[in-house]
Amino acid sequence: MTAIAPESLKVGSESTPLVEIDHLEVVFETRQGFFRRGAVHAINDVSLSIATGETVAVVGESGSGKTTLGRASLRLAEPTGGAIRFAGHDITHLPDRSLGWFRKQAQIVPGPLFEPEPLHAGL
Ligand SMILES: Nc1ncnc2c1ncn2[C@@H]1O[C@H](COP(=O)(O)OP(=O)(O)OP(=O)(O)O)[C@@H](O)[C@H]1O
Ligand SMILES: [Mg+2]
Repeated sequence: MTAIAPESLKVGSESTPLVEIDHLEVVFETRQGFFRRGAVHAINDVSLSIATGETVAVVGESGSGKTTLGRASLRLAEPTGGAIRFAGHDITHLPDRSLGWFRKQAQIVPGPLFEPEPLHAGL
């Protein structure tokens, strides 16, 4: 068993970025009829790091993956590649039942940029 020092659990310690997105990828499988399957690469190899208190704006043309990046970083869309760390904890593949502590701290402010999907996701 590994002991975790209380210091490393503190959200927003100065040495650890609050959010680290590392080569994140989200591919949606699509299906039109029984035989026609496809894949949409909504985001591909996105990396960024956000420090506590820092504000990051994501800008891009329609369909470039801004909403998917926001949703995936909150685990509202399933990442198919890369990693997401929150306060140093890898949350990329944590099952929903283990995400309670994260979801208490990571939030969406509902608004025109994010509606309606996150509200429908029940957060
Ligand atoms: N649930 C989904 N299933 C299949 N494809 C999806 C899904 N969600 C998004 N996409 C596709 O992923 C790509 C990125 O979409 P996304 O909504 O993230 O872009 P966006 O930058 O937020 O666009 P906009 O500026 O119009 O809001 C688009 O091609 C979109 O059609
Ligand atoms: Mg969008």
